[in-house]
Amino acid sequence: MTYDFDEVIDRSRTNSAKWLHYDQDVLPMWVADCDFVSPEPVRRALRRYVEHGIYGYPYKAEGSFEQATIRWCHDRLRFDCQARDVEFVPSLTTALSLAVLAFTQPGENVLIQTPVYPPFKSVAVNNGRHSVTNPLINEGDGNWSIDWLDFEAKCADPKTTLFLLCNPQNPTGRVFTAEELERMVDLCHEHGVVIFSDEVHADFVYGGAVHISLPTLGEKARSLSVVGLNPSKTFNIAGLRAASVVIHNPELMRRYRRASARVDAGRNGPGVLAYTVAFTQCDDYVEAVRAYVEGNLRYAVRFINERIEGVTAYMPQATYLLWLDCRGLPVETQEELDDFMVSVAKVGMNSGSSFGEEGDRFLRLNVACPRSVLTEALERIERAVGALKA
Ligand SMILES: Cc1ncc(COP(=O)(O)O)c(C=O)c1O
Repeated sequence: MTYDFDEVIDRSRTNSAKWLHYDQDVLPMWVADCDFVSPEPVRRALRRYVEHGIYGYPYKAEGSFEQATIRWCHDRLRFDCQARDVEFVPSLTTALSLAVLAFTQPGENVLIQTPVYPPFKSVAVNNGRHSVTNPLINEGDGNWSIDWLDFEAKCADPKTTLFLLCNPQNPTGRVFTAEELERMVDLCHEHGVVIFSDEVHADFVYGGAVHISLPTLGEKARSLSVVGLNPSKTFNIAGLRAASVVIHNPELMRRYRRASARVDAGRNGPGVLAYTVAFTQCDDYVEAVRAYVEGNLRYAVRFINERIEGVTAYMPQATYLLWLDCRGLPVETQEELDDFMVSVAKVGMNSGSSFGEEGDRFLRLNVACPRSVLTEALERIERAVGALKA
């Protein structure tokens, strides 16, 4: 099947968070939400669901949802799991919150590596836990490395009981190596820290980098890990609210389910359907959308470095997000930078400091859109920055 990712589809009259957040004259290039249509098998299944006309409670017993997850983990992530290791959750943000409730006590520490997707911090703080950070080190060449002494010290603190790992990393685009992940697992194992491996960006990996799903590292990794999966990014079905966690360790699963039972979120009928079809019938779409996005990333990196003075971009190893270093622009603060891009350039991007203080005067640009829309955004930034310097 061929896909036309160049097609521009008007989302402004849908209830889209991405498209309604800013005024109409601002091009939204922020939240991790694509402007591509979902794969045809997903749309066909949803059309049938809608046409049936009855939208009652979905059946909850282990079935196609779990089988789809098992299949995806085996074929794409290269590890085996069983139905009893799989649990539905409406979203990964919910799963992160449930993990905090399940694996930590009030007042304990939840470890994160900043800059990182902002809910990694808020799920700890909102649940009365401390968020402690192991800041990634900006190597200055697009690479962000781990401060191991600090990581070990934070793990060794008896109050640290959970580590939220963004694998691959949003917003830096890092793909952690097997050696790095094994070292994290060893240190967490030594100090009794559970790892939540958020793998939502795993399909968007480029240039020889290989995504390593945590359970593939062996028994030790499986004994302490919770893996978060969601087809939402790859297949553009985030609004359907259906994700999963995979937990091999029965004791960790028992604790997770006890926390989950407190809110008993229930399953989402169309969400479970779209998830199941996406994880079983749409592998060709994954490669097609990944290749298109890789083209967009390479194009944007070249454009920015050649034509937008003061902004530096590096080809990320993963995600469809570009982490722009704007410290070369003549703006003093993040607020000034954000305001300039929205009010003058008319391009809406995520504010770098919302990912942690290491993101000060960075911006996150989402390139998962038709090339023509990306070009328009880049040209707007180029014009505004050019006028700033004139
Ligand atoms: C690393 C990461 N985790 C989770 C999410 C959100 O997932 P969900 O919509 O399932 O809460 C995002 C969205 O951008 C993300 O980047």
